[in-house]
Parts: sequence; structure tokens; C-alpha cells
Amino acid sequence: MKKAARTMIITGGNTGLGFETAKVIAKSSADWHVVIASRNQQKGEEAVRALIQSTNNPNISAMILDLSSTTSINHFAEQFIEADVPPLYAIVCNAGAGFAKGTQETEDGVEATFGVNHLGHFLLVRLLLNQVEEQGRIIIVSSDTHDPSKKTGMPSPRYTSPSILADPAASDQFLGNLSDLSKGQLRYTTTKLCNLYFTYELTYRIQQAKRSISTAAFNPGMMPGKGSALTRDYKPFQRFIWNNILPMLRFVHPGIRSTRQSGKDLANLIMMDSMNSGAYWDGPKQIPSSDESYNKERAVELWNWSSRKLGLPKDI
Ligand SMILES: NC(=O)c1ccc[n+]([C@@H]2O[C@H](COP(=O)([O-])OP(=O)(O)OC[C@H]3O[C@@H](n4cnc5c(N)ncnc54)[C@H](OP(=O)(O)O)[C@@H]3O)[C@@H](O)[C@H]2O)c1
Repeated sequence: MKKAARTMIITGGNTGLGFETAKVIAKSSADWHVVIASRNQQKGEEAVRALIQSTNNPNISAMILDLSSTTSINHFAEQFIEADVPPLYAIVCNAGAGFAKGTQETEDGVEATFGVNHLGHFLLVRLLLNQVEEQGRIIIVSSDTHDPSKKTGMPSPRYTSPSILADPAASDQFLGNLSDLSKGQLRYTTTKLCNLYFTYELTYRIQQAKRSISTAAFNPGMMPGKGSALTRDYKPFQRFIWNNILPMLRFVHPGIRSTRQSGKDLANLIMMDSMNSGAYWDGPKQIPSSDESYNKERAVELWNWSSRKLGLPKDI
């Protein structure tokens, strides 16, 4: 078996966008070792089997990572550091969750949308940053739903201090008398805005530390259909629309895509020869993110708060 030359970790790689991205990367060359980071061992192993079969690349493995548990994230990082895999070239923070059936919390008592989409990935990247080789990449999957100027059908983010966003009861109170679905959607778009604050502040700190790792935020566009399980928590009728009606709009709306199409775009970003750091990519195109996403004060506040909450130093 030919040994791979570089490793990519992709969170949520067992399904949806993550799976499609892993497939393109693994198929491109057996030089890539792909780590499917999945919270469910069985799903991770099934994905690995399917990927090895469809790509003929044997260098694919599964590791357990539950982003709603700091214990699991710490364990993942320790296991990864000890694993016999080639140097870490890319971390792709792809996993994402939204909740439509009321407020959920993580094992650590953090509101779960914020916990998984922002805080879990923040911890993962901070723990593995020193493992990433120079010229390597960190890519954070965000969403155009963070941007009120794009007509995505989702509510505009409602950002407030991280201590409120992270606290299940305080965040409930902050969102007032909205339905569970509306609260879930607001939390989702707000965490996708947090993904951009994280990307931009990480970029700045990597440059300050004189390291040459490149970063990017990526918008895959809306990917309705059975390829994405993002609406798993929605009512059956809403899931029916997502699975069967919305995919047809792909042919008339450029913002509506498939997991396969966006998986190719994301994989291209990971494999691109050189990439300028800190950009926001809408599929294959670099574009500005929302005006609100360039708020430096908030990016610093979120970075400092997240570091404190996780017991990490502010500096990388
Ligand atoms: N679908 C869209 O229209 C759309 C639009 C814009 C942006 N995005 C973004 O694209 C990314 C991928 O979305 P997708 O459509 O591929 O979603 P998906 O099909 O629901 O896949 C999400 C992945 O995240 C994993 N995940 C969820 N909670 C986790 C946790 N606590 N720990 C570890 N992994 C967890 C899921 O694991 P399980 O399989 O175990 O549930 C799954 O592997 C997300 O960041 C999403 O916000 C999606």
C-alpha cells in the first residue's frame, strides 16, 4: 500500500457536504490520507468503507469526534497526535447542526448550536494548530445565511455577547417569544456569522505569529435534497419540501446547489496550489461576506471569550 503524504481531517465527513468533499480529495490521489471525524463510530466506519470502495484510495480512516463534548474533542486531538498518519495539511470544519424542536444543550451545558458550530470547532482548531504543517490550510464552512443582503429565506443573525449566546436560558430569554423553529434558525444563522468572526481572527493571529497556514471561510449555498441531512430536526412536511421540492429550484437559482457540486468546490479550495488567506468563498468564487462579519471588536470578543471558557491562552 502506497503511504500517503499529507492528511486532511474533515469534521462531519460521514455524510452530506463532508462526505462529498472527502470523496473528491481521496479520489484525486492516494497521497491524501483522509480522516473522517464523526460523532458516530458506525456511521464513520460505513463512510470509510464506501469511500475506499468508490475512490480506490485505501488511506481513509475514521475517528470519533463529538463536537458537543469538550472531553470528546480533547480525546480526538490526543488520539490524532499519537496516530501514525502523514503530516496534517488541512483541517476542514464542516460539521454543523441546527435545532428546530426547542433549546438543546451540549454535555458541557452550552447552547448546542453555538456549542457545535462555533465552540467545538474553535477548540478543535486550537488543539491541533501546532500540528498543521506550514503552507497547510484551515477551512471553516459557514453559510450565506449569515448575510442579510442575500435572500436565503433564513432570518438575519442576531448576535449578542458570547456569554448570552452560549447560555441556554439566557439565549432563550434573549430570543423572546419566538417559535422553536424561529429560535433554531436564528441561532443557526448567528453561529454561521460566528464562523466568520473565528475565521478572520484566526487569520490575523496566524499572521501575527508569523506562521504560513492559510485560512478560508466557505459558503456551500443551500443544498436541499437527501444529500444533506441538515433539516433532520424539522417536521415531516418541511423535510418533504427540503428533500423533494427545493432541489428543483437548483436550475433557476444559483444560490441553490447540491452537496456533490459544493463538495467539488470545497475540495478544489483545499487542493488549490496557492490561496490567499482569510477570504470568504461562495462556492468557487471569492466574494465579500456581510458588512457585519467584518466587525473586528466582535471577532476579538468572541476569540477572547471562547479561549477563556475553554481554559486556553488567548495567544496561539
Ligand atoms: N445544507 C445546506 O443547505 C447548507 C447551506 C449552507 C451551509 N451549510 C453548512 O454546510 C455544512 C455541512 O452541512 P450538510 O448539509 O452536509 O449537513 P448534514 O448532512 O446534516 O451533515 C452534517 C454533519 O455534521 C455532523 N454533526 C452534527 N452534529 C455534530 C456533533 N455534535 N459532533 C460531530 N459532528 C456533528 C453530522 O453527523 P451525524 O451524521 O452523526 O448527524 C454530519 O456528519 C454545515 O456546516 C452547514 O452549516 C449547509
